[in-house]
Amino acid sequence: MNRYYFKNLTSKLAIILLIINAINVSAQDVARYPLIPYPTKLTPGTGSFLITSKTNITAARQFKREAELLNQLLSGGLGTKLAVSKAGESRSINFVYDAAISQPEGYKLTIIPKSVTIAAKYPAGIFHAIETIRQLLPVSVEEGIAHKQLTLPAVSIEDYPAYEWRGMHLDVSRHFFSVSYLKKFIDRLALYKMNKLHLHLTDDQGWRIEIKKYPLLTEQGAWRTFNNQDSACMKRAADNPDFSIDKEHIIQRDGKTLYGGFYTQEEMKGVVAYAAARHIDIIPEIDMPGHMMAAINSYPFLTCNGENKFGELFSKPICPCNETTFEFAENVFNEIMDIFPSKYIHIGGDEVDRSDWGKSDACKALMQREGIKDLPALQSYFINRMEKFFNSKGRKMIGWDEVIEGGVTKSAIVMYWRTWVPDAPVKAVKNGNTVIMAPGEPLYFDNQPDQYTIYKVYHFNPIPKALNQQEAKAIIGAQAEIWTEMIPSEKRADYMYMPRMTALAENLWTNKPDKYESYTKRLVTQFARMDAMKINYRLPDLPGLLNNYVFTEEGKLSIGKPLPSLTIRYTTDGSVPDAQSPELPAPLTIKTSQQIKVAPFTAAGTRGDIYTLNYKQQQMLGPVKIAPPQPGLMCSYYKAYFKETGLMRIANKIDSTFISDKIAVPASVKAPSFGITYNGYIDVPSDGIYSFYLNCDDGGVLRIGNDVTVNNDGNHSAQERSGQIALKMGAHPFALDFIEGGGGFTLKLMYSVNGSEPKEIPAGWLKH
Ligand code: ACM
Repeated sequence: MNRYYFKNLTSKLAIILLIINAINVSAQDVARYPLIPYPTKLTPGTGSFLITSKTNITAARQFKREAELLNQLLSGGLGTKLAVSKAGESRSINFVYDAAISQPEGYKLTIIPKSVTIAAKYPAGIFHAIETIRQLLPVSVEEGIAHKQLTLPAVSIEDYPAYEWRGMHLDVSRHFFSVSYLKKFIDRLALYKMNKLHLHLTDDQGWRIEIKKYPLLTEQGAWRTFNNQDSACMKRAADNPDFSIDKEHIIQRDGKTLYGGFYTQEEMKGVVAYAAARHIDIIPEIDMPGHMMAAINSYPFLTCNGENKFGELFSKPICPCNETTFEFAENVFNEIMDIFPSKYIHIGGDEVDRSDWGKSDACKALMQREGIKDLPALQSYFINRMEKFFNSKGRKMIGWDEVIEGGVTKSAIVMYWRTWVPDAPVKAVKNGNTVIMAPGEPLYFDNQPDQYTIYKVYHFNPIPKALNQQEAKAIIGAQAEIWTEMIPSEKRADYMYMPRMTALAENLWTNKPDKYESYTKRLVTQFARMDAMKINYRLPDLPGLLNNYVFTEEGKLSIGKPLPSLTIRYTTDGSVPDAQSPELPAPLTIKTSQQIKVAPFTAAGTRGDIYTLNYKQQQMLGPVKIAPPQPGLMCSYYKAYFKETGLMRIANKIDSTFISDKIAVPASVKAPSFGITYNGYIDVPSDGIYSFYLNCDDGGVLRIGNDVTVNNDGNHSAQERSGQIALKMGAHPFALDFIEGGGGFTLKLMYSVNGSEPKEIPAGWLKH
């Protein structure tokens, strides 16, 4: 061995040791600093700072309010508040003004055994540091369990957010939520360093904010007899009590049962102040000119023709061609601006059925007089005029992305939601607008979460690919929505947005997709805090389950627990598992075809998602002879809209055919709605139980042999369904039918054999 080689080897060893050390350190860090969002820069320290009833707080003048919030938080864990004293005391928690920290929400936190120093230039930064400290404290502080001392691990943190807009939206119109829930919601936003709460205060189904000039908006518009969404929720409540309508919001009036509620201006000012103390800005949305049925009911003069009903897709809007409409809108927004000091006011502007405008004499006259060329431009006339009004009051207007359709001024802020119009945010940026990304996929948190949701939210890139670095600055952040048509209770709301909001929070604050592994570990620790805070979060998925299983002799079902504290229970009689159902043994042996339902339960008895597993006994399917086999599958392309895959073959109007050695949509397909059939054989190299995972948006059905192996049919957003088949080595008939209804597609087929990791199907297996 020459010297050079030896030296080189030792330096390589040193590097390997460093890497191993780094891995160990980071595993320890995850346990010691389970922070979400993870700080921009964290340097672990040794030892810890002990907080006792003798610990002092010192605070620079401008941070007294934040110091009081920390004191309140600590009193939950100590049973007493700490003394606030002058700077210079030892063993104290010090709030320090530091002009060098230029980021408006930035802070530095230094914990050493002798002191805690929280430094920032602005109170928002100090507040975020307090929430960091909160996540380092034992969860018992959330429960009000008093301890003699609280331990904070030593650490040095420098932190600031990647995006300035880190928002959540809550629709309080479709179902109403109490003031106390809004405050809880704000606490959770604060805990994860989110800074915007967008309240969707009005819609067809209810007007939720008192407007003194138009009292009927809430006297009548805040209450309804149960509607079809309420009935749909009640139906689902049979299996899941979280779908029950909240009794707190049901009243009797004039012999009628009414459901709803509203916030008085005083109540809402209290919520705004509560949020402001936590450095969260509440952005009110009064959605117009569409989504206004609740207002029109009481004030029919708002429409062009006095009618108040649903059009083909959306409700009929208010009329932008009468001055009385502007007078109403300005009066309403004057009161709104009085309640909400936010720089931003949201006007909605989405989903407008403009057809009645085209028939109105007032609109025809206005369009002629103002040179307005079409109905989208007429909507822009309304929106742009309202924006001028907002600007005259020193406010900025936000609108959903439809506001760009008829032209919008550069100063408006565009909130992008329509996933199926991917160029809308790009157009808005190129028009000079500031944009907030809130696309339905993956940020509509009313969409049922599944095992991919958190990953998708974590990896969502708020910057559209078509923007260059300079243009990207116009994207100020992102926001998730909670539309509540099917969310009638606080528990259901919790389930829908937690824990995925934590993935969004880390995305928008830390913005380092490679931290995903560590995030998932930190999230497990966060669940304990969420338990203490009584958040009804969605339990982690049971890993590795399929929808349909096959076995030849006997099947074995064994499920790993995603959290050690969970108990997995099951039934075989079709009933929903409950806290009395037997615990799943490891493993459960299955000898006959049957359906098994399983669900995880927390120690408190809360049930997670229910999984239905179909087990079928099957003989291994023998191969068919194909001679001579040709590579690839025969594919037919149908350029039409289909609701289900079966309708494609009935339509039988093939637009083109092609051969493909993979399950993918060719780049040349541009139609918004289409279908493709893939036909031929799958030639497997060995006997085995093969699993197939079909993830599609919209529908797909996979047949192998004569049977349906995976049924993922219908119009729906991306979701995975899976199934098994026992195959002997050789070629087997293969048919996959796929449909896309419009709005962007997903198509992915993976396989595994005898329980291996899912993989792409090798091109060489697909033949015709
Ligand atoms: C929306 O979902 N209509 C903004």
